[in-house]
Amino acid sequence: MTIEIHQLEKIYRVGEERVHALRGVDLVIQRNEFVAIMGASGSGKSTLMNVLGCLDSPTRGRYVLNGRATHKMGAAALARVRNEEIGFVFQSFELLPRASALKNVMLPLIYSRFNWLEARKRAKRALERVGLADRIGHRPNQLSGGQRQRVAIARALVNTPSILLADEPTGNLDTATTREIIELFRQLHAEGQTIVMVTHEEEVADAALRIVRLRDGMVTSDHPTRRDPTHAAFLQNAARMAAEAAGEALPAGAE
Ligand SMILES: Nc1ncnc2c1ncn2[C@@H]1O[C@H](COP(=O)(O)OP(=O)(O)O)[C@@H](O)[C@H]1O
Ligand SMILES: [Mg+2]
Repeated sequence: MTIEIHQLEKIYRVGEERVHALRGVDLVIQRNEFVAIMGASGSGKSTLMNVLGCLDSPTRGRYVLNGRATHKMGAAALARVRNEEIGFVFQSFELLPRASALKNVMLPLIYSRFNWLEARKRAKRALERVGLADRIGHRPNQLSGGQRQRVAIARALVNTPSILLADEPTGNLDTATTREIIELFRQLHAEGQTIVMVTHEEEVADAALRIVRLRDGMVTSDHPTRRDPTHAAFLQNAARMAAEAAGEALPAGAE
């Protein structure tokens, strides 16, 4: 088991006002799942991702990540878990503008146990994995939007996180580039990466094996997609049985 959240609530305070962004979310995500989170703007998707990514703590409820009760942790312990377990990708890439692709990807390793040479080797390998081996010396403004997001994905992967979290990763990309990035996510998932991704595009969500929908801070539906092999086999069986039943109901010779 990877992610286990129970009755998760998040209340933001803005002056006198309180915003109830999450209102009791239950969610279990296993290793090697590929989940899309959908929902209207303001439904709590980013709040949920920030809690899952240990960037923020819930107001109430439990969040157990790989057996560790993160809701009981202070900021320092949470930062450690984040470093070890989480890779985060944002809509706006969030790269350092003056640093090369390689330096951007090396950044998360500054606080790790690796020395500079080893960190460099790992960063290069992560950039190769996302198809950017020939761009490691480029700065973000020398790269296309899709290439910038690939750098950000390499940076998210460089610590070999147990979960890759992506909040609207294709929100700033055109259709062709969106497809490329989604193909990359599918490839990473096929290699065993657990992925949770927020999107409001059906086509993007369709790459996932499961779609969780949020509304007003609550889960309103949670379904497998046609890409889930177990679900696809179930649907095929159901269709075959329905066809057989229909065939038996027909009189002999009828077509
Ligand atoms: N840092 C914050 N302070 C106060 N309110 C916030 C903050 N972040 C989000 N909210 C509010 O919480 C609700 C959920 O926001 P968010 O999780 O960003 O939704 P989504 O990502 O689905 O658009 C919204 O009403 C939003 O205005
Ligand atoms: Mg959001």
